Amino acid sequence: MRISLVAGARPNFMKLAPLVFALKKAGVGPRIVHTGQHYDEKMSDAFFDDLGIPTPDVNLGVGSGSHVFQIAEVMRQFETELARNPADIVVVMGDVNSTLAAALAAQKCGTKVAHVEAGLRSFDRTMPEEINRILTDGLSDWLFVSEPSGETNLRREGIDPGRIHFVGNVMIDTLLTHSERARGLGYHRELGLVPQKYQLVTLHRPSNVDSPERLESILRGLKQLSEELTTVFVVHPRTRTRLEQEGPGRLVADGNFVMIEPLGYLAMLSLMQTARIVLTDSGGMQEETTALGIPCLTLRENTERPVTVEIGTNALVGWKSDEIVSAAQRILSGGARRGRVPEKWDGRASERIVDVLIGSADAHSTNGRDTRNLATC
Ligand code: UD1
Repeated sequence: MRISLVAGARPNFMKLAPLVFALKKAGVGPRIVHTGQHYDEKMSDAFFDDLGIPTPDVNLGVGSGSHVFQIAEVMRQFETELARNPADIVVVMGDVNSTLAAALAAQKCGTKVAHVEAGLRSFDRTMPEEINRILTDGLSDWLFVSEPSGETNLRREGIDPGRIHFVGNVMIDTLLTHSERARGLGYHRELGLVPQKYQLVTLHRPSNVDSPERLESILRGLKQLSEELTTVFVVHPRTRTRLEQEGPGRLVADGNFVMIEPLGYLAMLSLMQTARIVLTDSGGMQEETTALGIPCLTLRENTERPVTVEIGTNALVGWKSDEIVSAAQRILSGGARRGRVPEKWDGRASERIVDVLIGSADAHSTNGRDTRNLATC
């Protein structure tokens, strides 16, 4: 069985790692395709090093650009890649531009597609990732779901239930594999921090950082909180550009902020483990804090990962400074929720995915359709 795994941007790499290892364990050597959507050492290579992922077999070198450019370029390059190295199954993960582009190119080339982390919905179509999710799911032959809402959403959209598999969360496979190493690293010491005495912040969604009003409001809230807790702000490249502007830059310069470049996986996990609160607009960190039992305030009005709010440690607080501050103060005064770990977030999701893929009776037929003859690439 020839399986190509496609990853392109930072949040893909922690999903890629356990799939590579589970496939290898099952005797399938996957081909690893990096689209090059993220290319900085800190946004890409650091994760391959930390997680022990083999060097990609190919890097499509797509890089930055508008969303349309990124998607079109991944499609063009991936078509050539599939023509040179045909696959029986292309596995895509998450919701970034590379995910959608690879899924669409694969289907156009007559190759079947598996989507890991299918079915998540924020119901906010202004989020670029929401469009990527809906379209990737519509294109996929296997839909691997990480939480119950995923299955409900897909059924509501009329996806054949036979294609949907609730397997759990591959992000948590990676987290559990590396938890002890991260604890041993004690990265807070590198930054001179005291455990439980700092809040950890990440921010990169266009809806937050590209709006001066929202960015300034969030930073005002963080600055107020920084009177009580050191604020460790891990700055995404998109956000760095915005912070260089005068208004936001001034707010950060005045407060008790420790500004740092993007971290590798282990250092970030280590900082999460000893943080008092995590404030973020990342999807993955909502899940990781729930798995770790650390309070998380999500700086958004919605989440595509509702299980983290329903039973985990996550709360949605939006972007208004007073709401951020009052939610954080509730936690600081002992009002943090005690969460539970969601079903099947047990470190075995990638194993379940591999069982389904390998166990599928005939990798060449989808609903009775023989896809081999459709190959056009
Ligand atoms: C992308 C994903 C988002 C994910 C996020 C995590 C899409 C639609 N968005 O958003 O789902 O949560 O990654 O990081 O796919 N840049 C660098 N170095 C890099 C990569 C990017 O400097 O290695 C710069 C780009 O030039 C651009 C900005 O960062 O100006 C944004 O990069 P882009 O890939 O467009 O999207 P992200 O905001 O990173």
